[in-house]
Amino acid sequence: MEEGRVVDYLQENEEEKVINLSLRPQGISDFIGQTNVISALEIAIQAAKKREEPLEHVLLSGPPGLGKTSLAYVIAHEMGAKLTSTSGPAIERAGDLVGILTNLEKGDILFIDEIHRLSKIVEEFLYPAMENFQIDFVIDKGPYAKSVKFNLKPFTLVGATTRKGLLSSPLRGRFGLFYDFDFYTIEDLARIIERSAKLLDIKIDTESSHEIAGRARGSPRLSNRLLKRVRDYSQVRSEGIINLELAKEALEYSRIDANGFDDLDRKYLKALIELHGGGPAGIEAIAASLGEDKGTLEDVVEPYLLNKGFIIRTPRGRQVTELTYQQLKNSSKK
Ligand SMILES: Nc1ncnc2c1ncn2[C@@H]1O[C@H](COP(=O)(O)OP(=O)(O)OP(=O)(O)O)[C@@H](O)[C@H]1O
Ligand SMILES: [Mg+2]
Repeated sequence: MEEGRVVDYLQENEEEKVINLSLRPQGISDFIGQTNVISALEIAIQAAKKREEPLEHVLLSGPPGLGKTSLAYVIAHEMGAKLTSTSGPAIERAGDLVGILTNLEKGDILFIDEIHRLSKIVEEFLYPAMENFQIDFVIDKGPYAKSVKFNLKPFTLVGATTRKGLLSSPLRGRFGLFYDFDFYTIEDLARIIERSAKLLDIKIDTESSHEIAGRARGSPRLSNRLLKRVRDYSQVRSEGIINLELAKEALEYSRIDANGFDDLDRKYLKALIELHGGGPAGIEAIAASLGEDKGTLEDVVEPYLLNKGFIIRTPRGRQVTELTYQQLKNSSKK
């Protein structure tokens, strides 16, 4: 397997898909962290159940790897509903949705990942489906074409997006419940790691789980990935025994530093400092000097750097902060 970027959340490899499936929280009580989201959601679910109605359409937003997909499954589990999963880029034509929508039973969940990537036509086709559970579709072509209305059973659309800002306002307006995900605290990530370790039959102490959590960039997906790297390393180096020293060593080996930064994070900061005088610099210019896709930087790299205060956004572009200079100075001393 190609080494690849450890912090590459956009891609989940096959092994990871299977493992993540087994680690996915089932009920709402297995879902760790995001307490603001969870307490608001609990009320919405209880109220919908009391009214014996499907839940309103839900929009989940936040950086990749924070468990939006997991929460969609948790919602289905709590509502006792079936979940059908698809994604914005997978739906090429409105016709692709007809089969999916007409197969939904009352209360079922339709999960659309990366919903900001739906085409305009597909999006407009969704409006009446979301609003009055109806679709209009055209049958036949040319002079015989006619539009047919079809009634759907009331369902819940759960959309997930890393870019709420890219959603058109008519689409946004058709959701009733909005939940923004934040980066997880180290404490919560350590609990997630301990839970995953138990499920995967890995023995780990709290010091080591905190060490991994501190480098996981606020993300459960990355926490699980690092846990597996540490496990592999321990199996080769110490017959499976994980302690703080070994965890540190394994993480250094994966080139993740104590801030949770990987090579791309460091390259980003270095480019901003050395090629753009610390900023402000526009995202296009930064992307060009790194030879990276602008969207990847905006979705994956920047949210965490912003959250940790390593960069700020100004009207004239991105700028590094005093904190960045201090950290880089410290890490070059080592
Ligand atoms: N809040 C949580 N509590 C416990 N485990 C979690 C939580 N969120 C995520 N996980 C774990 O992380 C793994 C990856 O989560 P998931 O597939 O939902 O995230 P994602 O698809 O990477 O995130 P997103 O959809 O936000 O990009 C899950 O299999 C699960 O083990
Ligand atoms: Mg996901």
